[in-house]
Amino acid sequence: MPSQDLNVGLMGLGVVGGGVAAVLQEQGDAISRKIGRRIQLKKVLVRDPRRPRSAQVPEGMITTNPEEILADPEIQAVVEVMGGTNPAARYLRAALAAGKHVVTANKEVMAKEGPELLALAQRHNVHLLFEASVGGGIPIIGCLTNQLLANEVRSVRGIINGTTNYILTRMAYQHASFPQALKEAQDRGYAEADPTNDVEGIDAAYKLSVLAYLAFQQRVPPENIYREGISRLEVQDFRYAQELGYAIKSLAIANAADGAVQARVYPALVPVDHMLAKVDGVYNAVEVEGSLCGRVLFHGMGAGREPTTSAVVGDLVEIARRMNGSGPPPLVAPREQAWAVKPIDDLYSRYYLRLNVSDQPGVLAQIAHILGDRQISIAAVVQKDTNPAEQTAELVITTHTAREASVQQAMKQVSDLGVVRQVSNLLRIEE
Ligand SMILES: NC(=O)c1ccc[n+]([C@@H]2O[C@H](COP(=O)([O-])OP(=O)(O)OC[C@H]3O[C@@H](n4cnc5c(N)ncnc54)[C@H](OP(=O)(O)O)[C@@H]3O)[C@@H](O)[C@H]2O)c1
Repeated sequence: MPSQDLNVGLMGLGVVGGGVAAVLQEQGDAISRKIGRRIQLKKVLVRDPRRPRSAQVPEGMITTNPEEILADPEIQAVVEVMGGTNPAARYLRAALAAGKHVVTANKEVMAKEGPELLALAQRHNVHLLFEASVGGGIPIIGCLTNQLLANEVRSVRGIINGTTNYILTRMAYQHASFPQALKEAQDRGYAEADPTNDVEGIDAAYKLSVLAYLAFQQRVPPENIYREGISRLEVQDFRYAQELGYAIKSLAIANAADGAVQARVYPALVPVDHMLAKVDGVYNAVEVEGSLCGRVLFHGMGAGREPTTSAVVGDLVEIARRMNGSGPPPLVAPREQAWAVKPIDDLYSRYYLRLNVSDQPGVLAQIAHILGDRQISIAAVVQKDTNPAEQTAELVITTHTAREASVQQAMKQVSDLGVVRQVSNLLRIEE
């Protein structure tokens, strides 16, 4: 007979695992008073048992052998907070197949294998919960799968990488260059030594893939998500955007219409009075637009030991509450008829274009001609900083809604004009 306790095997005792172990041990009484059941830490898997750790765990609880968790019939739930794809994914599959509930914070595994793992969980009649995989302490996944379930979700868009948001905030307010702001983020421990996953939008694409599946019950593999990083942004982009009434934010956006989904991660201009424009520093925010709820905004700490621990323990509480057969596990079933995933070429958006041009008459007319030929209508043009020595000027153009493919083709043609030194930046404007 399973005990009334929920016995937990914890895989990983790093930043998040250490937080989870500490809360289960220190807050164990308080949690069991609230839910009428104890969540009991039973075993902890690590790589190096000699490593000094902030979380105090009794020595006999630590193991380097995953089987001590996976094959222990008394362990009913496994928390995976190791990271990486392997062996994490292998252990998750083994735990589910052994009939254990699973909680994971692993966005990469959930983005790449989430639908299969959820199906496996259902086959074995166990829960697979992953609130911590997106947005740290923000309860976005539970809301998408439960409270907002009655909605037809139209779009999910947000700031889901705290590192890039920190860098962009420093560039906007302290006028730091990208390399300066990145170095500062690394010095403060917000960015890793190799920042590629964050600054190139890879981490955000994993998270967006998870959100899109929940929002649209439609798989959008990370490799089908269009990505642009933030390293091409320059200080003047922030200045010009501000003068035009916008902030620049790295947004992850997935929207659905007419049986197709489109998903992308890129820096974009956001009106300064929009709530997403006010999300600064390492904070995250996700806006969901649903057919019933309208626009709902979730805001909070997107990473870090405590917020992520909050999400992991919340998932364990949900499992503990539903133990002993109070209904089937929650499931995101994919659509019977898969939706198409639209390429970025089919995006319709407004655009911000920054060009370095010769400071001479007639330049704008040539550019306007190329744009007009492709049905791209100009909303505003501003001539910015001139450089008398080089006889160049910066031209900032905003457009009305146009098709991405047309804008890209037009910019290729524009960059071939003798009077255009370079197309310095092309950003979308989100309304
Ligand atoms: N940190 C955050 O703010 C945050 C936020 C949201 C989600 N997440 C996700 O949470 C997960 C964990 O992140 P973290 O920052 O806590 O990582 P971390 O500090 O690097 O900790 C990883 C832990 O897993 C253990 N481990 C790794 N590979 C192992 C293996 N093959 N066998 C046994 N143990 C292994 C390590 O053992 P040793 O200690 O012995 O090396 C370590 O204790 C990742 O999926 C991450 O994306 C993290």
